[in-house]
Amino acid sequence: MRRPLVAGNWKMNLDLAQARELVKGLRDGLAALGPDARKVEVAICPPAIYLFPVAKYADGSEIKLGAQNLYYEPKGAFTGELSAAMVAETGARYVILGHSERRHTIGHLEDDRMINRKVKATIAAGMTPILCVGETLAEREAEQTLDVLTFQLTAGLVGVGLESADKLVVAYEPVWAIGTGRNATPKQAQQAHAHLRGQLREVAGNVADEVRILYGGSMKPDNAGELMSRPDVDGGLIGGASLKADAFLGIIKATLMS
Ligand code: 13P
Repeated sequence: MRRPLVAGNWKMNLDLAQARELVKGLRDGLAALGPDARKVEVAICPPAIYLFPVAKYADGSEIKLGAQNLYYEPKGAFTGELSAAMVAETGARYVILGHSERRHTIGHLEDDRMINRKVKATIAAGMTPILCVGETLAEREAEQTLDVLTFQLTAGLVGVGLESADKLVVAYEPVWAIGTGRNATPKQAQQAHAHLRGQLREVAGNVADEVRILYGGSMKPDNAGELMSRPDVDGGLIGGASLKADAFLGIIKATLMS
């Protein structure tokens, strides 16, 4: 059984006071759900500079912490970067890697080779990468979706030993669905997720059946239930709707009911 994971990617949003309020709202909301809430794992991924304070706000709760990026070298002259060990020291359990905004939007910062190095550095530091893959609209229209997913997944995992499922989370994030209000249909998501699991089986054998594959891209409380009810959709990576406690809790509740 795969325990669903609902992770909030705050991106470059919120000030510290808002972050504190949001964590408080989430803690209260999860407490109100009672022990049932534990059926879903909840994580939040604030901007790196907030990792330490947010860890304190979330202390003593079930909310896990994640980072949005790191650099693969252990130390050295890499101005502005953070090593995996530095990120791990904040208490982060997860690291989002290969997000499309880092692949495509921020001046073509990351290619698959770099993402692969980051995946390895993250695992070596005892954290779990949330490896993001997804096609652009042009790729979908050219019917290249499954090829793109195969390539990004396998390139991201070159030389990565996946002896247990806790070493990896995959996030399917179609680029055209991110921040657009236009989510993939449950059928499109299931097709992509099943394909990814099949590819994962080639690299990781039966461990693939235990690895969680999240959907990301305009997930909201009102579409989450239907997406999550698909057999290979094991949670969500949420952008906009993770910035408001009510909306994020709504997605967690929809996950619990699906
Ligand atoms: P939105 O939920 O805002 O579409 O963002 C999804 C995302 O990019 C999560 O990483």
